[in-house]
Amino acid sequence: MKDHLQQEFYNLYHKKAERSFFSPGRVNLIGEHIDYNGGLVMPCAISLGSYLLVSPNNDNVFRFRSLNFDDKQDIPLQPSYKKNGTGWFNYPIGVIEQFLRKGCSLQGLDMLFYGNIPIGSGLSSSASVEIVAAFALNELFNCGFSRLDLVKMCKSVENDFIGVNSGIMDQFAVAFGQKDKALLLDCNTLDYEPVNSNLGDHILAIINTNKPRKLSESKYNERVQECEAALTALKQELDIKYLCDIDANTYKQYRHLIKDETVAKRATHVIEENDRVKLAAKALSANDLLEFGRLMYASHYSLRDLYEVSGKELDAVVEYSKTDVNVAGARMTGAGFGGCAIALVKADHFDTFSQNIINYYTNQIGYPPSVYSTLIGDGVMELKNS
Ligand code: GLA
Repeated sequence: MKDHLQQEFYNLYHKKAERSFFSPGRVNLIGEHIDYNGGLVMPCAISLGSYLLVSPNNDNVFRFRSLNFDDKQDIPLQPSYKKNGTGWFNYPIGVIEQFLRKGCSLQGLDMLFYGNIPIGSGLSSSASVEIVAAFALNELFNCGFSRLDLVKMCKSVENDFIGVNSGIMDQFAVAFGQKDKALLLDCNTLDYEPVNSNLGDHILAIINTNKPRKLSESKYNERVQECEAALTALKQELDIKYLCDIDANTYKQYRHLIKDETVAKRATHVIEENDRVKLAAKALSANDLLEFGRLMYASHYSLRDLYEVSGKELDAVVEYSKTDVNVAGARMTGAGFGGCAIALVKADHFDTFSQNIINYYTNQIGYPPSVYSTLIGDGVMELKNS
């Protein structure tokens, strides 16, 4: 891959790229719509991701090229930037803006991006591009930021520059991912624990519904607001900072404070899901895939019925999985409204699973999904010349 990208870089800029970097995408195993509610999530980095090849130039120009998009940009180094349209290059420009704000002195760069994460599929292609750009700038200009600083800066890009009120999970997962480990991340304290993800004779399958997620940003922000409304109602009697500061038992005693039934359903999902993550972490470290799978299904049904972020496409994937004895568990992953589901599938039945789910889904929905198997990989890194 790197050799091919070096060649492409040379074709574009007539010189070699001095440095190259890789940042993965992520799946979230369980703990959905929890990060912005201060609770526990369990994502892991995957083998698909974003590459960045780069060389400094003396022209004070940032040159953005991508093998995924025709759109290219040459943007002069200036004191600050604003989002310009909806082009992909806004993500790395937002990152540059963050570095400038923090007082880092930068120089022009010739850049080539390439990603093999299906875009808009809920596997965090945007966090992956942000983190690969941030990691590269930090290394190239010796800015001295820690990984956690980079994660927070990239979250600000998403929230303040791009305008999505997302939590910290995606950036954290792609920066801190560890091979064969899920990260049990406390989104309130940002403490995390790697959890051994020995899947035994199962593998992690990703099923992309191939449904475009047009409404996702507005619906996502709506859910964030509903959680804020639930929190405000509970705060009348409870001294809490986040919904996830209470467990399901405590919530039962105070649920009546939330007058709006929709808002109450959203809070029920969040609080019960947070409890499920604790059980899931125990089950995974004990290699109890049966229990882990049960929790995955429970998480999906809650996202479908209480949080209402699934849809007939994601539901079809989970419905099929439930009937297949070779699947331990399945659920939607990420924001929802389309995008991807994950399933734990017996490795030696993966091909049959793939074929069956493609047939089932195509019958139900009218077009096929894409099915991949993925490894759990490391977080962002520099690719050294071998
Ligand atoms: C998106 C957001 C994350 C998280 C998930 C839902 O991926 O970027 O911060 O909220 O949705 O769990």
